[in-house]
Amino acid sequence: MKIYKTKNYEEMSRKAAHIISAQVTLKPDSVLGLATGSTPIGTYENLVKWYEDGDLDFSGITTVNLDEYKGLPRDNDQSYYYFMHHHLFDHVNIPDGRTHLPDGTKEDSDQECRQYEELIQSLGGVDLQLLGLGHNGHIGFNEPDDIFPDDTHCVNLQERTIEANKRFFASADEVPRQAYTMGIGTIMRAKKILIVVSGADKADTVKEAFFGPITPKVPASILQLHPDVTLVADEAALSKI
Ligand code: GLP
Repeated sequence: MKIYKTKNYEEMSRKAAHIISAQVTLKPDSVLGLATGSTPIGTYENLVKWYEDGDLDFSGITTVNLDEYKGLPRDNDQSYYYFMHHHLFDHVNIPDGRTHLPDGTKEDSDQECRQYEELIQSLGGVDLQLLGLGHNGHIGFNEPDDIFPDDTHCVNLQERTIEANKRFFASADEVPRQAYTMGIGTIMRAKKILIVVSGADKADTVKEAFFGPITPKVPASILQLHPDVTLVADEAALSKI
């Protein structure tokens, strides 16, 4: 695992955006795996700026997102569909129809998850997967568990995740209880992985996930087994190392 320690969130965001922009430039038809959450917002801001400055071209890019809440309409401002359009897709030139997320409005979980997994395979897999890190070590919405789930599947969100995400909703009651997420296998099949982490409140999780035993109780710990992972984290997130 390559680790870049940055001074703060802004530097973390620039570094991560540089890694993504190198991927886009070197392989203009890349499949990018994208993530939501507050951590990658600064990364997307840099990519949008560099696109607007004429330094980046996304016209050959295809994207697949990690996850989506089940049951939220796409125009709900807390859906990940909305988030991705707001922070990235509406501002860069990824062609229409080439940005993909699991469809949280589909009731039939098995069918939606199977189709999403097949879509990723039909695209030839993910070239670079961007990840954030949940406080309980989750990646995508793969919560601590007794096993590492392989393919895209439907999860019941844990109390801690609902608590962490309620800041974006009017109340905890409005946070959906289920989500569709790429599995750990889906994530591990990406050719490269880039994980961004910021803040002292993630320092214990960073230590457990990347310097502790590999266990499904800390889903991100499996990344230690991936051959091409880059962790970009600020000093605060790395303060327990
Ligand atoms: C959500 C997302 C994850 C994300 C996590 C951390 O649960 N499903 O993909 O990594 O939140 O979010 P944040 O970056 O806001 O701490």
